[in-house]
Amino acid sequence: MREDIKDILFSEEDIGKRVKELGIQITKDYAGKKPLLIGVLKGSYVFLADIARNIDLDCEIRFITASSYGVSTISSGDVKIGMDFDFEVRGRDVLIIEDILDSGVTLSALREFITQRGCASLKICTLLDKPARRKAQIVSEYIGFECPDEFVVGYGLDYAERYRNLPFVAILKPEVYS
Ligand code: IMP
Ligand code: MG
Repeated sequence: MREDIKDILFSEEDIGKRVKELGIQITKDYAGKKPLLIGVLKGSYVFLADIARNIDLDCEIRFITASSYGVSTISSGDVKIGMDFDFEVRGRDVLIIEDILDSGVTLSALREFITQRGCASLKICTLLDKPARRKAQIVSEYIGFECPDEFVVGYGLDYAERYRNLPFVAILKPEVYS
């Protein structure tokens, strides 16, 4: 697995430090509230596990599935939202937890989907923000790191369902997916 890595962008240590800072910020911003954290599967599972443990509030944790990708590195723009959406968002302070904001198509579809269901507030927290490829008009309120215009893997992010278990975020060698 590690022989496929070209460069490590964000080390395990960088990520740990930044996730702590975000957790502290979220804890302050939501003081007195009981936020509903919604993790977008599958890419957010590592980030959600870590950030949730740095949020010192009584929060509810749920997951939703959304995917715009097949086995490629370009977003198809066609977002599928999982139909097992079986929890109430009405009146809740929702914080969507996602691995990366890329074209923004996935998160804007999700934002609309959740807003329509009557949440009290909605914010987005992404580990990475890759502004170079933005198509939809969307911002993330909490961002771990700005990501260069490269396809990255690790810390939950995959290529063809692999590399999610790398403890850092890295750029793959182009020959891996060409
Ligand atoms: P968007 O709809 O284009 O913003 O894409 C968001 C989704 O695409 C994310 O949830 C990721 O699953 C995936 N994605 C975007 N960029 C990357 C990347 O560099 N590596 C791995 N997955 C990515
Ligand atoms: Mg994803």
